[in-house]
Amino acid sequence: MPSDTHAHSGTRSPASDVLVVGGGIIGLVTAWRAAQRGLTAAVLDPAPGGGAAQVAAGMLAAVTELHHGEQTLLGLNLVSAGRYPAFVAELTDLTGRDLGYRRCGTLAVALDADDRAQLRELHALQRRSGLESEWLSGRDCRRLEPMLAPGVRGGLRVDGDHQIDPRRLTAALVTACERAGVVFHRDRAERLTVARDRATGVVTRAGAELAAGQVVLAAGSLSGRLAGVPDAVRPPVRPVKGQVLRLTVPRSYAPFLSRTVRAVVRGGSVYLVPRENGELVVGATSEEQGWDTTVTAGGVYELLRDAHELIPGVTELPLTETRAGLRPGSPDNAPLLGPTDLPGLLLATGHYRNGVLLTPVTGDALAHALVTGELPGEARPFTPRRFTAAALTEQPA
Ligand code: GLY
Repeated sequence: MPSDTHAHSGTRSPASDVLVVGGGIIGLVTAWRAAQRGLTAAVLDPAPGGGAAQVAAGMLAAVTELHHGEQTLLGLNLVSAGRYPAFVAELTDLTGRDLGYRRCGTLAVALDADDRAQLRELHALQRRSGLESEWLSGRDCRRLEPMLAPGVRGGLRVDGDHQIDPRRLTAALVTACERAGVVFHRDRAERLTVARDRATGVVTRAGAELAAGQVVLAAGSLSGRLAGVPDAVRPPVRPVKGQVLRLTVPRSYAPFLSRTVRAVVRGGSVYLVPRENGELVVGATSEEQGWDTTVTAGGVYELLRDAHELIPGVTELPLTETRAGLRPGSPDNAPLLGPTDLPGLLLATGHYRNGVLLTPVTGDALAHALVTGELPGEARPFTPRRFTAAALTEQPA
């Protein structure tokens, strides 16, 4: 049965094995997987199921979002993409929900000579990395997606980059947690408690003391702001704002797009993610604006302008939602997973552009670390310890 503890000032809840701070997609998968391993787990969040996943488009874009210098991250992204089918099947069986997982592939296109050169570079990097990606002429791109602008100069067909609906996924994870006996504390984390050099729990804003054998900080871009976390283990995450639009493709228009279509337009990335239910997600800006989540006229204008250059018919569609979220950026664009140098404190944050993609592997890695004290092999490069002072001074100059 679902548990819902409302903490009150000065109250002390029974200790759990694991307290997860943050009930977004990463915190939920961590708590669920921990509970499946037999640990008693609790999630602290004023509104579980919220967070960046409510804004994210849900592209599972290990191949089309590859960047130079991110080869190690690519390995983790591919592992997680490979786990998606079984992860979705398990959650669907458990909850009876359709998660909007669509194995539709992605087409990344170029609109001018500069975009084309950039896409050729990406293609070369993908091939060097052993990834499947096919170069297509503009005509072949339009044959696949007839709504594309006539000026498209070429593109990359990546049949392995799929999508999921992050809102449905999050809702299913809440249900899975409830079924697994995870306790939800609907409150904010005020301060980590530390005793004898060990994390022992969290004090909530309402004053409740939540004791736990281990605490997992999974609060997205807010993970670096919890009071009481010693500076040496404070995660170096920052908010990176993304504005995202949602449009609706009327049934009479279908099929509008059959796969995710993306492009770099004037140096900025734009993508259109078509869902089976007619929702078309257009994203995303990438702005270093601190904690600001305002949807701006400029942001909406740029997204629609770029989307229109790519797919002129997009301006005919009803615009149903505009929203901004905060990606948890880290210094190397990769997540921070597992134990810190403070015993009892683990991290699951810093997923930046890949939170939805990395959800399955994060849940598995954190559950493994909570039970064994060690990260599994594929997650070891993402230890938060890579950012500790000693590790940084060991780097070559
Ligand atoms: N991965 C898509 C984004 O961060 O906008």
